Amino acid sequence: MIEPPHLFRPLALRGLTLPNRIAVSPMCQYSAVDGVPQDWHLRHLGSLAASGPGLVRVEATGVEPIGRITPLCTGLYSDACEREFAHVVRIVKGIGVAKVGIQLAHAGRKASTAAPWAGGKPLPTTDRQAWRTVGPSAIPFAPDWPAPKAADHADLARLRQAFVKAAERALRAGFDLVEVHCAHGYLLHQFLSPLANQRADEHGDSRDNRMCFPLEVLRDVRGAWPHDRPRGMRVNATDWIEGGVSPDEVVRFVAAAKAIGVDYVCVSSGGVTPRSAPPTGGLVPGYQAPLAEKERRETGMVTRAVGLIVDPHQAEAIVANGQADLVALARGFLDDPRWAWHAADALGAPVAAAYPPQYRQRYLRIGRAPHFVPQVVGKRPHEFPNSLRRLQRPVATSVRCGRTPRRPADPREHDALHERGSASPARRVRYLHRRPFLHADRDRRALQGAAP
Ligand SMILES: Cc1cc2nc3c(=O)[nH]c(=O)nc-3n(C[C@H](O)[C@H](O)[C@H](O)COP(=O)(O)O)c2cc1C
Repeated sequence: MIEPPHLFRPLALRGLTLPNRIAVSPMCQYSAVDGVPQDWHLRHLGSLAASGPGLVRVEATGVEPIGRITPLCTGLYSDACEREFAHVVRIVKGIGVAKVGIQLAHAGRKASTAAPWAGGKPLPTTDRQAWRTVGPSAIPFAPDWPAPKAADHADLARLRQAFVKAAERALRAGFDLVEVHCAHGYLLHQFLSPLANQRADEHGDSRDNRMCFPLEVLRDVRGAWPHDRPRGMRVNATDWIEGGVSPDEVVRFVAAAKAIGVDYVCVSSGGVTPRSAPPTGGLVPGYQAPLAEKERRETGMVTRAVGLIVDPHQAEAIVANGQADLVALARGFLDDPRWAWHAADALGAPVAAAYPPQYRQRYLRIGRAPHFVPQVVGKRPHEFPNSLRRLQRPVATSVRCGRTPRRPADPREHDALHERGSASPARRVRYLHRRPFLHADRDRRALQGAAP
């Protein structure tokens, strides 16, 4: 059997098998009401799940109300949040092959802001939706931002409990995995970074002490999450600025997290201060993949690369060359929500199997991946591009009329038979309509890399 491209090989994480190595990166939608996801979230996540990624993750979700970035962010701190998330998970899981995870987060000193389209600045204290933020030290994110309250012991205990409770709710809501947000300058990253953490107690003062609180949270979440389901985290491999966390420090943190049972790490960067960004000219496609590679090589942790990955061939190379075990895309999926289909097509993976059955007939009828569809929709056959002219040709006949053809055991052989032709166009159309039901199980197994 020909091996599928690396991107389309399954990946086992504890008891969960991702059908491929494409993940939709978490993306805040700023569209929740009191933390509760809305119809928009269903549409957003459902649409992305329909196009064949192996993993879809819900956006950074506050473990307590004051942990949300904005009042419009999702939360997992109330029965209403849990109930609606259970609904979202059930629907999204029913759409495609993707497993569904959630990013548990606390924004710390970067909380209580306006949505990006309203400026993204801290809400004025006079705004009735604003709240007092909390952080490791009373150091503001930027000079014109409010200083957070430096978390005391009672705050730390409450925060740990909030992460545990949110993980328990995520489990009841049916999520396949949880991912703890330790990146982008949010609370747990604030504890890791000397730029935000200048405590003098056991949660600051030295590199190891700064790791202490994030590791306590990760250990607590691990305890609240079943052994056979994966737990991951997102980290910043670098703050990009003098005095911030360095890749070597983060290697130590990732190794410590691995030792307490964290199963994978998504490697990102930036966001701890407004100046924390890659150097000029550093934002090239896949710019964070070398950071992921370092974490993977030096810790042996399952690693996900993210950051300006849009070309399927580059994504394939990142996995094939061992820079990461899987890739995540955010803007790539917003721009092209069917990215996984098109990547399969570009890399020669069994693309049809990635389609929900409802869409497969169209694909097979046109005989090419659907991103060719815009080239033919609304056009008359003589206006089709040359590559698609063959669609006009009448279907050749090779199966004799009146005889029921043998149904081959392998769906690919069956497809090929119908590609070559059948007794009549009507028979072919009937086949295309029945195909999803004839071969659904085999297609799904083929997509998951097993023998069809
Ligand atoms: C609209 C949007 C919302 C985002 N929200 C989150 C989030 O909730 N959590 C997170 O860790 N990263 C978030 N990110 C960052 C992405 O997950 C990703 O790491 C980043 O955009 C780089 O990947 P890309 O080049 O494929 O977009 C967001 C990015 C975008 C574009």
